[in-house]
Amino acid sequence: MKRLIPLIALFVLVSCQPKDPIEQRIDDLLAQMTLEEKIGQMNQLDPSWSAEEKEPLIAQGLMGSIFNIVDPQEVNRLQRMAVEESRLGIPLLVARDVIHGFRTIYPIPLGQAATFDLALVEEAARLTAEEAVQAGVRWTFSPMVDVARDPRWGRVAEGYGEDTYLTSQMGAAAVRGYQGSDSIVKLAACVKHFAGYAVSESGRDYNSTWIPEIQLRETYLPPFKAALDAGSLSIMCAFNDINGVPASANKHLNVNILRDEWQYDGLLVSDWGSIMNMVSHGIATDRRETAIQSLEAQVEMDMQSNAYLWYLKDLVEQGVVSEQQIDACVRDILRMKFRLGLFDNPYCEVETPQYFQPEALAAAQRAAEESAVLLKNNNALPLTSNLSPLTSKPTVLVCGPLAHNQHDQNGTWCFDKVDSMTITPLMAFRQLAKESKIRLIEQKGKHWSREVSQSNIAQLTRLAKQADVVLYFGGEESILSGEARCRAHLNLPGDQSEQLRALKATGKPVVLTVMAGRPLCIGDDIAAVDAVLYAFHGGTMQGPALANLIMGEVAPSGRLPITFPQAEGQIPLYYNKKNTGRPTDHPVLIDDIPVGAGQFSIGESSYWLEYGDQPLYPFGYGLTYTTFEYGPVVLSDTILDFTPYTLHPTLQVSCIIKNTGNREAVAVPQLYIRDLVGSLTRPVRELKGFQRVSIPAGESRTVTFTLTKEDLAYWHLAEGVDLGADGKYEFSAEQGAFHVWIAPNAAEGEPATFTLK
Ligand code: BGC
Repeated sequence: MKRLIPLIALFVLVSCQPKDPIEQRIDDLLAQMTLEEKIGQMNQLDPSWSAEEKEPLIAQGLMGSIFNIVDPQEVNRLQRMAVEESRLGIPLLVARDVIHGFRTIYPIPLGQAATFDLALVEEAARLTAEEAVQAGVRWTFSPMVDVARDPRWGRVAEGYGEDTYLTSQMGAAAVRGYQGSDSIVKLAACVKHFAGYAVSESGRDYNSTWIPEIQLRETYLPPFKAALDAGSLSIMCAFNDINGVPASANKHLNVNILRDEWQYDGLLVSDWGSIMNMVSHGIATDRRETAIQSLEAQVEMDMQSNAYLWYLKDLVEQGVVSEQQIDACVRDILRMKFRLGLFDNPYCEVETPQYFQPEALAAAQRAAEESAVLLKNNNALPLTSNLSPLTSKPTVLVCGPLAHNQHDQNGTWCFDKVDSMTITPLMAFRQLAKESKIRLIEQKGKHWSREVSQSNIAQLTRLAKQADVVLYFGGEESILSGEARCRAHLNLPGDQSEQLRALKATGKPVVLTVMAGRPLCIGDDIAAVDAVLYAFHGGTMQGPALANLIMGEVAPSGRLPITFPQAEGQIPLYYNKKNTGRPTDHPVLIDDIPVGAGQFSIGESSYWLEYGDQPLYPFGYGLTYTTFEYGPVVLSDTILDFTPYTLHPTLQVSCIIKNTGNREAVAVPQLYIRDLVGSLTRPVRELKGFQRVSIPAGESRTVTFTLTKEDLAYWHLAEGVDLGADGKYEFSAEQGAFHVWIAPNAAEGEPATFTLK
């Protein structure tokens, strides 16, 4: 009894604690709601539904959310209907895909990842939220944190590349930016697509995925967890089936992991029509059945399928599903509405929206500058440093299909951009000409990336002959990446390659700037020109950003967030691979025959006959207008046990980086580890940190990273458990030797070694 007294006291204390006010208000509302009203909250429709279909639902409190309306007057009109006409006055959630900017457009997320600049990504998301909320949007379907290792997949543009760590960091930064740190969230984030969407077979959108549990946990789930830990109020399930079960019916993901393991109390929304799509998947015979399966998997809001709206009431009445299941979903939906402060302040208050503010334009320009990756430079860039005093005002030909294309340089998924506000490279160079910094030759007429035209080539050649340097802006139109925009050939579309060769044949230096939504396999084009900036689709301010980089006002600092393959046949190709039993030590092709293999003869090692085992450019790669020398890696200790009792429960890893060139620039040191021997095979490198450090010419800086035991941990089988036993995985570090690098990219650097006791 004595031992029971403290327990009883504790129980009394806990039960006397005032209930969280939001939870109390949710309870009160739920108690008043009819079954229809509860189910209505689980329904989300867009404006493609006619006013006759949708407005009565709103006025009767039978609609939880609308999306794709960005007119604040219209948002307020519909909101008034929900708040003032419906019985309980529950406000609507107003959603929109605000992916890389609302009116002011920032680089596509893949480009943002190339900045390796978390503060900037957070800032861009914060400024994006400021614009979007003025249109009445309170919920964005962003960030997308699908780790993508197949550049054929068109949605590679929408994510942060191939790496789990980088994607986790970037996604969390975006969530912090959208949502801010106030107790009332301005713009709710929605991390998507849960999970494994980017693993679609052969890079074909919506295709099947097969992901073993350990790989799911190690590679694909951590970015979701990081975004939820950063506070994302919602999460969206993916379109794909994963290990045979569509994500919208996947109890393992949505219940076991999301709810039971991660204890997530935010809102899980389906993707567009993904509930009804399960009929096509062949896992349900009709929409009624899809409603059962998604509800069982705790998908709480139905985007555009109407499966819940049409079938859930009958299903409850027939006892197929329970009202408690419905209540659990509605509770999370209402919680999100409270967290957004919608019950107290449902309307959009801005009268004259303030878009394209100087702060937003400056951040967009900086993001575009930092996202461009210099892949090659035979001294062609920057233009200013190569000019003899006689040609201090060079004659520049600005040409190519993306030189003056306000629509396409914004990239995929930016519904609310204003093309006329977009500054193209041609516009930026016209400004430089006006300031007498250059003489400008313009290629006349509009050209498309997919066009083939002999007269265009003839015109280009003629103009190039009059110029000192050719600035060619090529790549992909925005419609070639994004949802359902997958490509089998990752070339420069149309006759761009021929144009580049014709330009080069004039003997003039040719600088190629690529705007694209994905890595392209363009080694031959790169070889044919003098310098290459890989700039992704950079948004509203990409023109001035590129002009600054090309003229040398700013030194490039972007690094590749994804491996560039030499050819499509190498895909998937990523740095974080496992070693084979017969690894190749970078064979060199001589007369098309690989030579110079490592410990095995070449006939017995792992490579492609045409390409050896190397990418075109590795993850993390990028040049600038200076050179950096990385000193040896220095460790604070070489034998670690990480117990709290040791003097240093973390490992400090540092190195000195010297700027050996003649101008200041940003180095992007990357921290990698390798667990040399594990109970499961381990990747040859894993990114665990990165920094951006500006180093003046001739100077050195010491960079230091901290490794914790968690950084060394990975998902493996619990001791004594065989592969295949369900749910017996553990996340922990194993004893033994590790390599650690501080390197300029995933393919360079000399490691130091330490041992985990
Ligand atoms: C996409 C989602 C998007 C949704 C709403 C779907 O087609 O997969 O990423 O958020 O549409 O527009």
